[in-house]
Amino acid sequence: MNPQPLVPDTDPHRLAAAIGGHHLIAGQLVRAASGKTFAVVNPATGREVANAALGDNDDIHRAVSAAARAQIAWAAMPARKRGALVSDCARLLAEHVEELGRLVALETGKALRTESRVEAGVVADALQFYGGLASELKGESVPFNPEMLTVTQREPIGVVGVIIPWNAPMMLMALKIAPALVAGNTVVVKSAEEAPLAVLRVCQILNQKLPAGVLNIVSGFGPECGAPLVAHPQVGKVTFTGSVETGRIVARMAGEKLIPVTLELGGKSPMIVMGDADIDKAVNGAVAGMRFTRQGQSCTAASRILVHDAVHDAFVTALKARVDAMTMGDPLDEATDIGTLISRTQLAKVLDYIESGRAMPGAKALECSALPAQDHLRQGLFVRPVIFTGLDNGCRLAREEIFGPVTCVIRFRSYDEAIAMANDSAYGLAATIWTRDLKTALDATRRLQAGFVQVNQNIVVQPGLSYGGIKQSGLGREASLEAMLEHFTHKKTVIFNMN
Ligand code: NAI
Ligand code: MG
Repeated sequence: MNPQPLVPDTDPHRLAAAIGGHHLIAGQLVRAASGKTFAVVNPATGREVANAALGDNDDIHRAVSAAARAQIAWAAMPARKRGALVSDCARLLAEHVEELGRLVALETGKALRTESRVEAGVVADALQFYGGLASELKGESVPFNPEMLTVTQREPIGVVGVIIPWNAPMMLMALKIAPALVAGNTVVVKSAEEAPLAVLRVCQILNQKLPAGVLNIVSGFGPECGAPLVAHPQVGKVTFTGSVETGRIVARMAGEKLIPVTLELGGKSPMIVMGDADIDKAVNGAVAGMRFTRQGQSCTAASRILVHDAVHDAFVTALKARVDAMTMGDPLDEATDIGTLISRTQLAKVLDYIESGRAMPGAKALECSALPAQDHLRQGLFVRPVIFTGLDNGCRLAREEIFGPVTCVIRFRSYDEAIAMANDSAYGLAATIWTRDLKTALDATRRLQAGFVQVNQNIVVQPGLSYGGIKQSGLGREASLEAMLEHFTHKKTVIFNMN
């Protein structure tokens, strides 16, 4: 444990410079074994804000070895004591919400008020939730034979490898490390190359409370640093959030080793607005669901909005007005609703989708809001939100995950047609239906093919609710008690024969 308390630093530039260039292994901030670093860029200005340690196989080996050494004592601790330490971490993190919000805003371009500060709060919440669940790591007694005592017990897997993306890096990391740790595993995180700083800071804060080696984090690129983590012989489980493409690679490598994987992949989440829906509520739900404040960079983005013919035009007009009223600007400015995209690569991808949508016959691209005018944001990765109308559910924009501020509003005439379109997707992460009719709502919740279905609301993943996809959206569930028990423990059957 680190004896020197960390003082929150709300100047993200200073904090980035102070912690940049390091992994955190066995309780210490350390440089990459190779001595190499890579640049962390502020997507709002294009300027470099810090370095990150460029991790490779050697750093992963060091981190996994530290985690393996720490795992024996960590697993031997009474579960509630582990839970209490994770709850202590949550309380400590709550004091760092402002600095973490600012740091993640700096490296990701996500607006501080609408996104980044909120994300920092969710991290503490997730840790608190799991800290209180330690005593639920229970087994069963089994009526196998009256002459014998037969029980099952939950045991940790060992060292868990955690691979995270950049869109909500702290939150997605917290939903993985909290259940893994409480269940008695130790962890090595591989952060996303676009956003290595805030997650490093979170781990540094948690290392104030956790024994050395229990939680380690290494920064670097996917093939050079993520792949060795999955392949490492001492890693017994991998949990991943990111693209379908990379998810397949991770699952294939895990398959070679025959270790379990949890995959949270993409989505093309439909939102069905029936003719009898409360249009104001549905419009607010579309804005929240599409995560326009995060430039649409969310796996659950409501990126296909299916609207009944009778209310289609009114819905589109109201949605455009709501998005027009949002302010795009400096992510660190409190007045800003919408920040930037994460990287030039993602910007090029999003612009390509917008161009291909414009070229579709009958398509109309409604550009919303306005680009910021300030000089220092000239190089920023801003893109105006686009609402497409007149597109077909079969077109590329309606089938592929764009991961940008682009949504397709698609007209339907009958309920059955809407359900068929909603389900005609390779993905199955989330879905919503907006209606005042209970029978329709109930029927839709049965028929919609998704892991998370909501009626008349579009809230994000919450601690306590199992979250995850079907079809190509992934494998396994996160955020709940079930997630901890099913995905971070083994069940052992034990028989006492007293004869
Ligand atoms: P990605 O899936 O390639 O990256 C996610 C994480 O996987 C990063 O930490 C990356 O370094 C790591 N990684 C990459 N290749 C790896 C490999 N061979 N072995 C082990 N780890 C590896 O996603 P990327 O490139 O950042 O974004 C591409 C697209 O993925 C986005 O446009 C979006 O559609 C989707 N995506 C979905 C997310 C979600 O929340 N489900 C999050 C981020 C991206
Ligand atoms: Mg990639």
